Amino acid sequence: MRLQGKSAVVTGAGGGFGEGIARRFAAEGARVVVADIDAAAARRVAASIGGGAVAIAGDVSKGDDMRAMIAAAVDRFGGLDVLVNNAGTTHRNQPMLDVDEATFDRVYAVNVKSIYWSMQAAVPVLRAQGRGGSIINISSTAGIRPRPGLVWYNGTKGAVNTMTQCMAIELAPDNIRVNAICPVLGATGLTELFMGQPDSPEVRQKFMSTIPLGRMSQPSDIANACVWLAEDASSFITGVLLPVDGGRTA
Ligand SMILES: NC(=O)c1ccc[n+]([C@@H]2O[C@H](COP(=O)([O-])OP(=O)(O)OC[C@H]3O[C@@H](n4cnc5c(N)ncnc54)[C@H](O)[C@@H]3O)[C@@H](O)[C@H]2O)c1
Repeated sequence: MRLQGKSAVVTGAGGGFGEGIARRFAAEGARVVVADIDAAAARRVAASIGGGAVAIAGDVSKGDDMRAMIAAAVDRFGGLDVLVNNAGTTHRNQPMLDVDEATFDRVYAVNVKSIYWSMQAAVPVLRAQGRGGSIINISSTAGIRPRPGLVWYNGTKGAVNTMTQCMAIELAPDNIRVNAICPVLGATGLTELFMGQPDSPEVRQKFMSTIPLGRMSQPSDIANACVWLAEDASSFITGVLLPVDGGRTA
């Protein structure tokens, strides 16, 4: 098993990509903190993946909650090796001037400020342990090849990409690696908001026609990339923005 003995925190693991990542990590031998703002969803996932997985409810845009997620790994598993900053949200696909201020603030708080709080919580722990670590930010193709309709969401992912690259350099002396995965559209709780219209085979076909490999992303695609960035086989990889996009941004 590729993550045997590692302790991991996955945010937004109560559904979508995060659930797929948490399940795969547990299957590879990791002990996983399943963190989500939806307490029932976190409990459901943790209970079903087993492997001693722990559920914790919290909002990644709040410092105290983020510290509690990291503390759960330390208290229950004796330390932290891998942190996946996956929780994210978006506004509906619509003209940029139609997005109200409260929505703009929420998208930036969940997608960007969460990274600030996660670093404040996790980096001191990783430094004190002195054995490095792997931080994986779930970004988006939207941060590499942005398109209209998701202007403010795209901006958050551009921020995630830039933060990933500079954090990787700043944390390299501690052997703490920081990478981002940039998925293309997948079928999750956010799909209809990204599409800006009801999900249907016709709408999916339109999106899929822009993806050279001809399909949407799946949680397993994202989880496979996360396993590699979490395991020791990627020990020389840091500061990378890895598209998992079937060639969409090529
Ligand atoms: N689905 C896609 O097409 C797609 C494409 C590219 C990138 N992404 C990114 O993937 C990540 C996961 O999204 P998803 O598509 O799986 O969405 P999703 O809505 O299916 O899952 C997100 C999970 O995060 C949780 N969450 C939301 N806000 C939270 C908060 N403040 N604190 C803690 N947990 C919170 C939700 O309860 C949910 O369980 C996001 O960062 C998203 O931007 C998604």
